[in-house]
Amino acid sequence: FAGIARIPVVVHVVWNTATQNISQTQIDSQLDVLNRDFRATNTDIGFVPAPFTGLVADSRIEFYLATEDPGGNPHPGVTRTQTTRAGFSHDDAVKRTSTGGIDAWPTDRYLNVWVCQLSGNLLGYAQFPGGPADTDGVVILHSGFGTTGTAAAPFDLGRTTTHEIGHYLNLFHIWGDDGSGCSGSDEVADTPNQGGPNLGVPAFPHVSCSNGPNGDLFVNYMDYTDDRGMVMFTNDQSTRMAACLETVRAPLIA
Ligand code: ARG
Ligand code: ZN
Ligand code: CA
Repeated sequence: FAGIARIPVVVHVVWNTATQNISQTQIDSQLDVLNRDFRATNTDIGFVPAPFTGLVADSRIEFYLATEDPGGNPHPGVTRTQTTRAGFSHDDAVKRTSTGGIDAWPTDRYLNVWVCQLSGNLLGYAQFPGGPADTDGVVILHSGFGTTGTAAAPFDLGRTTTHEIGHYLNLFHIWGDDGSGCSGSDEVADTPNQGGPNLGVPAFPHVSCSNGPNGDLFVNYMDYTDDRGMVMFTNDQSTRMAACLETVRAPLIA
């Protein structure tokens, strides 16, 4: 795509207790994070260790709350649904009105983001491009969403949504999803081969899979570090997301 790709977003707040009915301010704070992280204007970008700074990418992708509903009527881009379900899981129930959630808006034209209570320490999950239309989008735990309101440390900088949208735009985990092995690949050329996920915030360098002296790119959004530890996409990840937006997900930015 030429210039900037701007993706319309609909946020579906699905709440059981009143606390989970997050504020517009919390939603706006998440959009702000996305627009910084995907443009590499996040103020913590200086956390990238010097040997890796040449890999930092501006993906030229931006996000905005939808201004029209699927029927073309003016709409704020946020839906609010009360549910009797105390929590949701990885099973997509939140994505259907019939199972206590709310149906997606047309997934070819909107990035659907469901925000709800999730059980089992799940921060969020995403559907990769090419999956079933009716469940396409990302699901985020309300307390891992945005930077204010119910957002709770160490997942209170909005990075769960950045990470999940990375998957939605076809990025794999940086360690290659092979447990702690050295044979899995994220199919991205400029990320170092990495053993397993990094949790918390490691000290630099964290070497695995003979990737010394600089080690793992644990500051990447597609690792599993705490929110304050993940601050960048790479050039080749950016290229991979662009390829997705130019093909499978092209209608989103048409
Ligand atoms: N567990 C989730 C996933 O695999 C998200 C992890 C997000 N990490 C974070 N620091 N916010 O997609
Ligand atoms: Zn992930
Ligand atoms: Ca690996």
